[in-house]
Amino acid sequence: MVLGIESSCDETGAGIVSGGRLLAHAVASSMDDHARFGGVVPEIAARAHLQAFNPVVREALDQAGLRMKDIDAVAVTTGPGLSGALQVGLSGAKTLAYAAGVPLYGVHHLAGHVAADTLEHGPLPNPCIVLIVSGGHTSLLLVRDLVRDPILHLGDTIDDAAGECFDKVARVLGLPYPGGPAIDRAARTGSPCAVAFPRPLLGSKEHPYGFSFSGLKTAAARWAEQHRRNGEGFSVADGAASLQEAVADVLTHKALAACRQYEVRTLVVVGGVAANSRVRALSEERCAAAGVELRVPPMTLCTDNGAMIAAVGDLLVRSGSAPAQLDLSIDPSAPLEYAALHPVGRPVAKIA
Ligand code: KG4
Ligand code: ZN
Repeated sequence: MVLGIESSCDETGAGIVSGGRLLAHAVASSMDDHARFGGVVPEIAARAHLQAFNPVVREALDQAGLRMKDIDAVAVTTGPGLSGALQVGLSGAKTLAYAAGVPLYGVHHLAGHVAADTLEHGPLPNPCIVLIVSGGHTSLLLVRDLVRDPILHLGDTIDDAAGECFDKVARVLGLPYPGGPAIDRAARTGSPCAVAFPRPLLGSKEHPYGFSFSGLKTAAARWAEQHRRNGEGFSVADGAASLQEAVADVLTHKALAACRQYEVRTLVVVGGVAANSRVRALSEERCAAAGVELRVPPMTLCTDNGAMIAAVGDLLVRSGSAPAQLDLSIDPSAPLEYAALHPVGRPVAKIA
């Protein structure tokens, strides 16, 4: 029984996983507290984690019908993320692990997003191509054994990530925070080909798998501002649908090119932006046409949660990885190299 704790941004999550099975999943969000500022305020997020930590852990235990004495290990996000927010989750997780006398594992937040899919669809095939699209990261990865092997980056965000682009353009369009879901909703009644937004780095020889959404963000902002300056009305729905189309087109095009080049038959799309309806639909369409199996976690496991961190913890425990020491610290800008953010030693005997 592995308890996973997530607190890297504005969601306090606790999840329980055993042998790859999801037993419980509780999340408290401080999103509403940030809405009037138009973005996450780190200090408010950290305080909200402090308030939510115990109730969320209790709720996860209650859901699973367990008590702390039944927990065999604690896994916690130690990076990347907001330092104050991470600090609260790590302190809480250390306390629980120490009090229960069980091992502690430090987990990379993005590896958690990848592992989220295993809770719905079972173990990941080795190898697979993973497209991570979250608020701060857009990466295309070649993943082998998620907890034993190094994670190979085929391409990353050069400037703004896809989620960041959605959030910032939403603001310009006058849509509420968080922008991604608001754009998704507004796009339902718009036309995806109303505005010819650019497809950044599509076909780039230098960055075949790199992503850059800053230019697209500027193009969308200019489009809205130009209409406003000229005193013309414009359709927010059309702007949202066209932006969403451009992002989904670039993401899925590159992901499938990677599957072709590396001859990989499975694409896994994870992270908050994987909740986007057009990203999901276009991924399905293009994977079906290319004969590639598509795996996308259910919506509730796409955005930040503790179950995904428990999923990595569970894999680490089952692979015989060494736990962290109690002086484990946060790493707010941790690069994604391995799923664990502490030395795991050589895998020892496997627990069945
Ligand atoms: O993975 P996540 O929950 O947190 C980070 O690790 O960053 O991702 C949050 C991002 C935000 O930018 C949010 O706007 C975006 O995911 N997002 C969406 C949708 N739901 C969440 N973007 C587009 N469409 C959605 N339906
Ligand atoms: Zn995330």
